[in-house]
Amino acid sequence: MDSESKSKIAIVGAGYMGGGMAQVFALNGHPVSIFDLDTETTKMSFDRLIIESRSFEELGLFAPGSAEIISRNLSCGKNIEEVVAGADYIAEAVPEVIQIKNEVLTKISIAAKDDAIIASNTSAIPISKLSVFVTNPGRFLGVHWVNPAPFIPGVEIIPTAETSEEVLQYVEVLIGSLGKVTSRVSDVAGFIINRLQFALYKEAVTMFEEGVGTPQEIDAIVSNTFGFRLALFGPFAIADMAGLDVFVGAYKSLAEAYGERFAAPDSLAEKVKNGDFGLKTCGGFAGLDASKKDEIVAYRNRAYAALSQLKKDLGTPPGFPD
Ligand SMILES: NC(=O)c1ccc[n+]([C@@H]2O[C@H](COP(=O)([O-])OP(=O)(O)OC[C@H]3O[C@@H](n4cnc5c(N)ncnc54)[C@H](O)[C@@H]3O)[C@@H](O)[C@H]2O)c1
Repeated sequence: MDSESKSKIAIVGAGYMGGGMAQVFALNGHPVSIFDLDTETTKMSFDRLIIESRSFEELGLFAPGSAEIISRNLSCGKNIEEVVAGADYIAEAVPEVIQIKNEVLTKISIAAKDDAIIASNTSAIPISKLSVFVTNPGRFLGVHWVNPAPFIPGVEIIPTAETSEEVLQYVEVLIGSLGKVTSRVSDVAGFIINRLQFALYKEAVTMFEEGVGTPQEIDAIVSNTFGFRLALFGPFAIADMAGLDVFVGAYKSLAEAYGERFAAPDSLAEKVKNGDFGLKTCGGFAGLDASKKDEIVAYRNRAYAALSQLKKDLGTPPGFPD
């Protein structure tokens, strides 16, 4: 398969995620055929995607002419067999229910070309649990987009032990050509995004249940403090910049209050024991170049000030408490 020419795309399940992916592929010049539950639901999804694309264009979120490009490249199939026939890349975005994934992936496998790539958008099911439903599993992998698909840059690429390197590279080039930032991640439940996201959410709900804060208070704290930083840096870079010694000190208090689950992780404790406190001692986890410490700090300050201004300009989201 030649990833320079426009791959023929099939999308099965054209709801939030499948629909958003269809818009992105079509906008980038790929012929995209969608199928949802039946022909009527598929047509409704198609109409919704065209109307939404026009609205994105009017709002300046898509470039002028985008809706026209999308409607030219997008089509509806009558069934799974029809949409996947001749497709180079097939994305499955049906509900997160293993029986539905089984039924759909089995049908796709039977009807697709032998070398067609099949990608699941599952949020949390290990890809190896789904690959048993796919014939020739070397062509199967997870390609996990984040909602709203047209606007979130990152996409997780999740191979199983069986996924071929050729398929992986093809998919990375294909998804990268859409302007997305791909990251290869291990095939563990929830991958990276949802293992972290759901850990944070669970702790937030637990704090609400304990009466620590209302949902509004907790959301405000997160989005205006460390969540604000996360728009620019990952947890490792943040900890390296803050000081690993500071983190170990904080874990001590947390473990005293909440037990072992809040004890400092072994590799962190080990680093601090050996005098590695992160950026301030030219070490840390994130591989930051300590010779550029002043530039890193200057960038960080500039970026936070710009983000702060952007938040002010955007204002409180409609419907949210002030
Ligand atoms: N919503 C998110 O934020 C998000 C983010 C990342 C990944 N995901 C994952 O993406 C997948 C789809 O989620 P979604 O949010 O788009 O759900 P959704 O409910 O919006 O879309 C799923 C679509 O699949 C269709 N469908 C159901 N059974 C089908 C079948 N047998 N054949 C064809 N189509 C069928 C439904 O009619 C629906 O339109 C799930 O695995 C979900 O976990 C969701």
